[in-house]
Order: sequence, then C-alpha cells, then structure tokens
Amino acid sequence: MDDAHATHTLQAHTPVTPSSRRNYLAKPHRTDALIDFVKQLIHHSFVLDALEHTAPTTWEHVEELVDDHRAAQASASATATSRLAELAPGISTFYTRLPLASAWRLYDDKYALSKRRFVAPSSSEIRHVFNLAQVLAMRDTGLRLVTFDGDQTLYSDGSDFSDPKLARYLVLLLHSGVSVALVTAAGYGYEGALYERRLSGFLEYMRSRQVPEEAASRFYVLGGECNFLLRLRAIRRKGEGVGPLDYELESREHDWEAIWSPRDSEVQELLNVAEESIRSSVRDLLPRARVIRKSRAVGLVAGGQRGKAAALGRGAGKSWLPRESLDEAVLRLHDDLKRANGGRGVALPFCAFNGGSDVWCDVGTKRVGVDGLRKVLGLVAECVLHIGDQFLNTGNDHAARHSCPCLWITNVGETKQVIKHVLRDALGLSDIKDRSWASSS
Ligand code: IMP
Ligand code: MG
Repeated sequence: MDDAHATHTLQAHTPVTPSSRRNYLAKPHRTDALIDFVKQLIHHSFVLDALEHTAPTTWEHVEELVDDHRAAQASASATATSRLAELAPGISTFYTRLPLASAWRLYDDKYALSKRRFVAPSSSEIRHVFNLAQVLAMRDTGLRLVTFDGDQTLYSDGSDFSDPKLARYLVLLLHSGVSVALVTAAGYGYEGALYERRLSGFLEYMRSRQVPEEAASRFYVLGGECNFLLRLRAIRRKGEGVGPLDYELESREHDWEAIWSPRDSEVQELLNVAEESIRSSVRDLLPRARVIRKSRAVGLVAGGQRGKAAALGRGAGKSWLPRESLDEAVLRLHDDLKRANGGRGVALPFCAFNGGSDVWCDVGTKRVGVDGLRKVLGLVAECVLHIGDQFLNTGNDHAARHSCPCLWITNVGETKQVIKHVLRDALGLSDIKDRSWASSS
C-alpha cells in the first residue's frame, strides 16, 4: 500500500472533526520555549564554527534579556512586557538574577562543549547551564527551603527512596538550617506510614547516622500536590529518653487547614468533571486503562492483565500506556475543566498531568503547596528552591514555577549533581563527607 493510500484508509476509519483536532495541532506541547530559544541562538554559533568565541557573548545577551524581563515584571504597569516574553512565549517569573555567562564558563570549562566540532550543545546541556546559574544566584539570597518532587527526582518512578548519598545530601541541607520538603503528587491522605515507605532509604540513613531532633524536624512531606501536610519528628521507642532515635511522620492537618481547605462541593465538582473526561479518554483512546478516584484526585492507570483481557485487540499495553495517548488525555482534561460551568471553568486550581505511565487530575497544584509551605515557614520566594522532573506543560512541577526558583532535572543522578552544587556553591559547605551526627546532638 502506498503512503497516500494508507493515509486515505486511516482517515476513512478515524473520523476527526475540525474542533476535536484543535488543541493538539495548534498548541505545541513537550517543548520549553526558553530552552528552544537559547538552543537556536547557540546553534548559529556552532554552525559557523564560532562557539568558543561567541557563546560567552550569547549567554551575556540572554542574561541581559532576563534582567529586562525582571525589570518589566517589577514595573508598576500591568501591561509591561519584555523582549524575552515575546521571543519565548509562556516564560514565567524569574525570582533572582541568573548569572548565565558565569555558569556557561564553569560548565564549558568542565565539559568542553565549545571544543566539539560535530555535536552541537543539546537541550539538556542548556538546561544544565540554567540550573547552574540558578544555584549560583542562590549564594546571595540565603537559601532556607528546598522542595523536592518525589518520583523521578528522589527515587525512580514508582520505586522507594534507596540512595544513601542523596540521603546524606538531604541531611546536610537539614543540618545547615535549610528546611526540606517532599512535595509529591502521590496522595495517601494523612497515612504517614505510606509516605514513610516511599522514603524508606532516607529514614534508614537518618537512623543509621542518628540525625538530631532539631534537624529532623525541618523535614516535611506535602502529599497530593498540596493536600496533606506532615512533618518528621524524632522519637525514642524504648521508654523515655533512652534508646536510639527513630523517625516518624506526624500529621500537621490542623496547621495546613488554615492554609488550604477547599470546599467539599467544589472538590466534588472538579473531580466529577475530571472523572468524566478521563472516562471518555478511556473509551476513545485507552480501553485497557483503569480509573481510580481518591478524596482529592482522579487517575487513569494501566489496567494490568484484567484490562488487557477486557479489551483484547484494542488499545495497547498491560502495565504501560502509550505516551501520546496519555498526553492527549491530559490535554483533554485541561480543555474539559476549562469549559466546565458554561466556559467559566471549575472553581478550584487543579493539576492534570502525564506522570509517565499514568494520568492524574489532582485538586490543587504544587504552586498552592509551595506557596503554602512558604507561608508556614515565613519565607520569601527567593529563599526557596523547587527541584523536579516535570516542567513541560503536561507535567506537574510546572506549577511550582509560579512559586519560587526551580531546577529542572530528569533523574535521581541529576538531583544528586544539583544538590552537590547547592551544598558547595550556594551554601558554601566545603565538607560534604559522610559522618555520624550522634555526638553533635
Ligand atoms: P511526583 O513525581 O512525586 O509528583 O509523583 C507523581 C506520581 O505519583 C504519579 O505519576 C503517580 O504515579 C503517583 N500518584 C500516586 N497517587 C497519586 C495521586 O493521588 N495523584 C497524582 N499522582 C499520584
Ligand atoms: Mg516527578
């Protein structure tokens, strides 16, 4: 069958109305406008074989554009716009200056990008330069809180925390007076034991090093994006005042109610619209998937053997689901929630995202979560850093960009790398070796 005929046959079997096609074609997703813009600039130099000489100037130029953008943000005029906002539509707030030229020099000195002749700087490398510039900027702001996404940031997707080196870095943050929070979409209500299981390797490390009570109490968990706040506390299990320290997560529901307590009628309205949207995606696109409804979320997950058996010959995957279909389900959710209530949209903020192997719509967002934690701790945005892997418009860390500076990583290895820089470059710690904290308690 030739290509033209194949297309014709497909179209004949897949009726697509112009309105149902609108979003996917008109709105690019899985792109980041700022990184794409810088990549384009850098590629001009690369093609001209002039990267070594012109890249520093290019980064200086981008640094100036960020400064202009910050000035436009700070100006009283609500209509003030910036050149950067026109060149990279969709960019949000920059809470600090970004020393991009210095970051490029450090990065290039280490990885010799400008010496390459055949391979141009990649999107990941440009992302790393932005991350490094953000860490360097935190030298002057006084870092007080680091919030971490969970899946794919502190542990790989669906697994539990298992990296002792990362645990050590988190403890060093706590010990330096910096609060640390896991801000995750995973919502287990106020069942501390379930979050403790996800954090098992971290808590194991805390026990083995006997991290003092004061440092431990700076660790928080915010589950369901922003719905359930818990705090770590150190306890002695064997009678009063004796025995080694152990650690457990304690509900802070009462404190958190003052910050975020959405009306139940609005929660149910949001979840009803989301569930209907998800069920229609299952019918149309993902017949093997299973729908889960929780108190503050609705999700679509792989249906396993039973899902496969129920839709033999249709759909794909038993323990995974196709990425494109998951993205489509997310964009449909955004559309349906926006159109609810005769086009006024639902009353509450929501987070509809592709988690890699599932789709979720949560009540509230990481923006609500990180803003709330800032309020609990009395912190301005510049003293806070959020680290996560989902910064595209179908991801759930994206919302945190409206709360504080962010570092965009793609796996646990990169988290360790950026935290090492935070400890050394932002907090000025020279000694980040392993040690027991027992004697310092
Ligand atoms: P995060 O990367 O730590 O924010 O976690 C995202 C992942 O948590 C999702 O991809 C899901 O697999 C999982 N998850 C479990 N429960 C929920 C929920 O209630 N809402 C959203 N995601 C959930
Ligand atoms: Mg994640």
